[in-house]
Amino acid sequence: MSKPINAAEAGQFKIGGDLAVNRLGYGAMRITGKGIWGAPANPAAALATLRRLPELGVDFIDTADSYGPNVSEDLIRNALHPYQNLLIATKGGLTRHGPDIWLPLGRPEYLRQCVLMSLRRLGVERIDLWQLHRIDPAVSREDQFGVIADMRKEGLIRHAGLSEVGIDDIDAAQKYFPVATVQNRYNLVDRQSEKVLDYCDAHGIGFIPWFPLAAGALVGPGSALGDIAARLNATPGQVALAWLLKRSKVMLPIPGTSSVAHLEENIAAASLVLSDADFTLLNQHGQSA
Ligand SMILES: NC(=O)c1ccc[n+]([C@@H]2O[C@H](COP(=O)([O-])OP(=O)(O)OC[C@H]3O[C@@H](n4cnc5c(N)ncnc54)[C@H](OP(=O)(O)O)[C@@H]3O)[C@@H](O)[C@H]2O)c1
Repeated sequence: MSKPINAAEAGQFKIGGDLAVNRLGYGAMRITGKGIWGAPANPAAALATLRRLPELGVDFIDTADSYGPNVSEDLIRNALHPYQNLLIATKGGLTRHGPDIWLPLGRPEYLRQCVLMSLRRLGVERIDLWQLHRIDPAVSREDQFGVIADMRKEGLIRHAGLSEVGIDDIDAAQKYFPVATVQNRYNLVDRQSEKVLDYCDAHGIGFIPWFPLAAGALVGPGSALGDIAARLNATPGQVALAWLLKRSKVMLPIPGTSSVAHLEENIAAASLVLSDADFTLLNQHGQSA
């Protein structure tokens, strides 16, 4: 009999040094409408996907107020509140002006509103991990970091993270609050954030790679990972996730899906252990892609 699917097989990471989560999590951006706008096409499937998470050992969910907007956070609350052993990480600081349109807004009073509204929507008194979705270039980053530090001190958020940042941004933010996580785009075929990942690894900062499946490009039948996946009796998406998990002990992939079947396939990657030889092979493959 095959082993039950469990995200715990991926090992654990302590966010902010104290909140332990299984390293393979879930990204809740895909449970919204087209262009990450409005309700999902199939709300029942979205709720079923969320409710399957705890059964698969997933205890780390990434969302944002701007997914929908509001839709993702609302669905998470509908499906899973009261939360048991679940770390819901959310983000704020991006405004929405239609499908696929995202604009940063980092004025301190707006960031505070983002946190207060996420608290209400998620139905919690404190957000375990709140991430600044983007640093707003039109506002001094120190003002943005300052209000995050204030909200930590006030107990509205426990740990804080950044998204789409460079090492210089992380260093600047560390003067205001301990940066618990960094969420940058990263996957086998997109390594632009390699140096940031190495920095996070060296400093024990959780690294949350968004687009871990290259937004689906690494998953399908035409995937460049088809041959190695077939040899390992796995799917290409599972190989892509297993590669991420082996790449660094601070790596926290959050593959996104709106389907229970895809979720189960993705979380089963927690048990796929790559040999050093296959890891090296995949590394070269990624660099040449
Ligand atoms: N910080 C940021 O700026 C930022 C930006 C983007 C995303 N994110 C976060 O990162 C998470 C992950 O990124 P993502 O969802 O955009 O991309 P992803 O995880 O790389 O890929 C998701 C896409 O792949 C498909 N997929 C997933 N599993 C599959 C499977 N087993 N078989 C076939 N297709 C599969 C999904 O469609 P189905 O729904 O049909 O499965 C979806 O279209 C998001 O959910 C969000 O939480 C953050």
